[in-house]
Amino acid sequence: MMNKVCYIVVLCALLVSCKSTSQVSSTQKVEAIKIEAIGTKPTLERQPYLQMVKANSAIITWKTDASVTECLVIYSEIGGDTVFIEKGYLTAHEGYLFNEVALKNLEPDTKYTYAIHSNGHVLARGENYYFKTSPDNKKQAFSFYAMGDIGAKEKSSFANEPADRIAEMERKPDFGLGLGDIVYPKGESKNYDNHLFKPFKDVFINTPFYPVAGNHDWLSANHDENFKKEWNLPNEEYYYSFAYSNTLFIGLDSRDGSFYDYEKQTLWLKETLKQNAGKHDWIVVYLHHNGKSCTYKKDYEHVMGLYEVFAANKVDIVLNGHAHTYERLKPYNGNGMVEQDRTNQSEYKDLENRFISITMGAGGKLNKKWKADPSNKENCEDGTIVAHSEHMASFGVFEVDGKTLSFKGYNSYTGKSFDEFVIEK
Ligand SMILES: [Fe+2]
Repeated sequence: MMNKVCYIVVLCALLVSCKSTSQVSSTQKVEAIKIEAIGTKPTLERQPYLQMVKANSAIITWKTDASVTECLVIYSEIGGDTVFIEKGYLTAHEGYLFNEVALKNLEPDTKYTYAIHSNGHVLARGENYYFKTSPDNKKQAFSFYAMGDIGAKEKSSFANEPADRIAEMERKPDFGLGLGDIVYPKGESKNYDNHLFKPFKDVFINTPFYPVAGNHDWLSANHDENFKKEWNLPNEEYYYSFAYSNTLFIGLDSRDGSFYDYEKQTLWLKETLKQNAGKHDWIVVYLHHNGKSCTYKKDYEHVMGLYEVFAANKVDIVLNGHAHTYERLKPYNGNGMVEQDRTNQSEYKDLENRFISITMGAGGKLNKKWKADPSNKENCEDGTIVAHSEHMASFGVFEVDGKTLSFKGYNSYTGKSFDEFVIEK
């Protein structure tokens, strides 16, 4: 016989509006919501993570054992007195269940706290379980973090270091970008928890993450059963775009350097840039492979082939991983040329048709045998393209406030910044 326990959530609140499709039923006074817990408490295999958090909607996903038959999220605005319930759906994958709840009718730029339930048992809740919806205007200042090459095996990865530094930040980034090679060695689903979600759990429970795939994520024979199963991302989930406040973000899938569906993807990129022309103050492109660089990786032609597209369409920032190091390049034009007479590489004004490319591939691993040295001809043809390089465990944080974009590179161990620049428009 099933062990039934009744949880009663007592709400002393007045429901003033029925803004959700949730089970909270009406504009009447609600005295109690009964959530019936069935059976033994399911095992929480993966802490909840946030995806596609927009102005009016959000997706919360967590992973449980296969015993779960129903899931839901209870959520409320922080400081608010109305509580909502939303039921989710279950997707089986490799012997586990993704419990997924899509929240709708949310208020923009609003912080909500949430609790996750499977089979009626509360599996996680507390002060760190919250999310903030994106703004519905283009004036809101915001910040985001970025890094690549993150999830290696326990003990061979330092991924918990950047995750801890981000979780500790006084100004919490609004979301994160994953610059490919998200999970080593082959992007297999079975490694996602130990290699990525465990070290990043304190970040992912309240900060959405938008990854693109890298060459390692493509090594598995069953890519569609791994990367695509783990994430909810816009478009086809390989390459996609989304806007946040006054900035357009474009994630590309550079696969092994030759790009996934190259023709189609570049057409889509050009079309996306064309459709968004003049609509945003900033455009950030992110992908796994580098173009010209002075790291130990080769220069990837397919990326260099996009320089003209980036420059002609007012892309401001291009982020990549792949080389497990940090390297910021001087602003490029469409031919990948820097301005030889520019001496100030920390404050930029009017970069018109130039973009700044940064390698941030030291999210979880460092190439121990290598050291950053742009003057070494073995690393690159022309070391003068480099504005700053430093071989350390690192990640970057951008702050966007109207026509000002500021960047800092952070040491993942100390949390201290070691490189910075600002662009004013
Ligand atoms: Fe890579």
